[in-house]
Amino acid sequence: MADVILKADDLVKHYPIKGGVLRTTVGHVKAVDGVSFELHRGETLGIVGESGCGKSTLGRVLMRLEEPTAGTVNFDGIDMFSQSGSAMRKLRRDIQIVFQDPYTSLNPRKTVGDIVAEPFEIHPDVVPKGGRKKAVQELLALVGLNPEHINRYPHQFSGGQRQRIGIARGIALRPKVLICDEPVSALDVSVQAQVINLMEKLQDELGLSYIFIAHDLSVVRHISDRVGVMYLGRMVELGTEEEIYQRPTHPYTQALLSAVPVPDPTMRGKREQIVLTGDVPSPANPPKGCRFHTRCFKAQERCSVDDPELMDRPDGVAAHRSACHYAEPRVIVETVDVSALAPDPRFATTDVVDHDAFSDDGGLLPADAASMAERSHASGESEGPMDRPHDITRVVDNDPSEKRDPTN
Ligand SMILES: Nc1ncnc2c1ncn2[C@@H]1O[C@H](COP(=O)(O)OP(=O)(O)OP(=O)(O)O)[C@@H](O)[C@H]1O
Ligand code: SF4
Ligand SMILES: [Mg+2]
Repeated sequence: MADVILKADDLVKHYPIKGGVLRTTVGHVKAVDGVSFELHRGETLGIVGESGCGKSTLGRVLMRLEEPTAGTVNFDGIDMFSQSGSAMRKLRRDIQIVFQDPYTSLNPRKTVGDIVAEPFEIHPDVVPKGGRKKAVQELLALVGLNPEHINRYPHQFSGGQRQRIGIARGIALRPKVLICDEPVSALDVSVQAQVINLMEKLQDELGLSYIFIAHDLSVVRHISDRVGVMYLGRMVELGTEEEIYQRPTHPYTQALLSAVPVPDPTMRGKREQIVLTGDVPSPANPPKGCRFHTRCFKAQERCSVDDPELMDRPDGVAAHRSACHYAEPRVIVETVDVSALAPDPRFATTDVVDHDAFSDDGGLLPADAASMAERSHASGESEGPMDRPHDITRVVDNDPSEKRDPTN
């Protein structure tokens, strides 16, 4: 399996819940509860699922920012969790992370030069001290920023530019794998396109493999080669982009896809809507049997006792992994077949450079204006004229009149 760069086996991360006067452990939040998958060299694996299903926890454990409760990660032939000292330090160079929030993940008191050079401080052997300024400037140029802005501070950049700084820091050590936790979710839609283009360009040039965690199924579809769908700490479906979007077999994936906004209003009436009822159960007490059975429109008696394995199941054309006893392909036609429509504006541009960064050498007005807008946008302070990124994975029963019996 030479093309597998990272392989997770039965990964588990439980957080203790403390209670009582003695603060004893009274239970566990099962944030990640038995996740297995592999990441191929040079591919992008998208990870989707509702808020709280364990995506970020999975990312942190893969980075070994947190120790797992159980399970293994094999990185390029090395058992990651059995490494320590200099061997682990060396391994860390090869897996880096880019976080969601460009406003809080950069230290406001440090210059961009210092921020991007941080990895070189931790791994001094990568670039000798005298060569770091040049290395940082090269990195800034690589991510489409003006290398002359090396002495500026994060607040002098827009949200998109800050995310580029985060990416520059993430690739400084020339990692093999970059874990991207909602890297564009806090950005304005038009800026998302540029950052995604940049990520694709860097992937080609540097041979990176990405784990791309996101809420937005359209963004994930655009960038991913394969996609894993998570529910309550588990991977419930895993396949190529085509398998997941064109012939999903797990009822949860089908429901998620049916909630993706349809770009063409004339098609809205025709769309298939699968409305999930009920709240997501607590990860401290996941349902027995299939974890999805309390909300599944296909649930049968067996589902509440027999936990389905994530394994290859027929999908109408071939087979791909799905954790459902009654897996069968279901085309959520109009909601995903948008190829004949005008392209999503986010993906219509091929730009990778941030032109604002080069438009002047002193004034920062365009960036500042964008920064202000994006900041209020990201924090939900006000509804600006810009489109908000959709959080389409929150499937709610908000309009029962549109509800179609999904079992028909
Ligand atoms: N350090 C922690 N201590 C206790 N519980 C935690 C901790 N980190 C995460 N959790 C819990 O683990 C579960 C999974 O959280 P996680 O942040 O991984 O979800 P997520 O899929 O990334 O969600 P989102 O889409 O909102 O970012 C949640 O119930 C969360 O409250
Ligand atoms: S195993 Fe049963 S409850 Fe689980 S997804 Fe399949 S049909 Fe639904
Ligand atoms: Mg998260």
